[in-house]
Amino acid sequence: MTELTSGEVLHDVRLQVNGTWYETRVPARRLLSDALRHELGLTGTHVGCEHGVCGACTVLVDGAPMRSCLMFAVQAQGHEITTVEGLAARPGVTEVRGGYELGPVQQAFMECHGLQCGFCTPGFLTTVTAFLEDHPDPTPEEAREAISGNLCRCTGYQNIVKSVCRAAEIMRERGGTR
Ligand code: FES
Ligand code: FES
Repeated sequence: MTELTSGEVLHDVRLQVNGTWYETRVPARRLLSDALRHELGLTGTHVGCEHGVCGACTVLVDGAPMRSCLMFAVQAQGHEITTVEGLAARPGVTEVRGGYELGPVQQAFMECHGLQCGFCTPGFLTTVTAFLEDHPDPTPEEAREAISGNLCRCTGYQNIVKSVCRAAEIMRERGGTR
């Protein structure tokens, strides 16, 4: 723990993100979204509204989707965090494009044009990844309900729903591999 001249206290935190341990020092009020982006350099997590409405900042905490703008970094200690950077698929079962190995949800969004500007996309990808764990064969209606907490300013929802169903198909083709 360190105290700045401003009187603000910095706390040592150890975070497990995408299977890697990071050590950093943050004020108690540092949001997890800001710590991921600014302390850890994981800028794939986007910040839109910063008050829990848009879903752009969604990450997985122990596999469950969470708004990282509504959580403090110090609260994330002891939990496994997965960001959009951690959704790339495992070697040997993925398509390689431009040097990146795409996970099924990423590949489906690419195939179905599930994004336009891409600002909302990290939040959709993490949300959909968690959803498909519990719903491996969703109907379009279920897919629509699953993404109802995420906002897309480009209003590309039709293709996002198609992407969710296509991602489920790809996961089944790959034998359930994420
Ligand atoms: S930035 Fe977190 S919900 Fe919008
Ligand atoms: S693709 Fe632009 S905000 Fe969703």
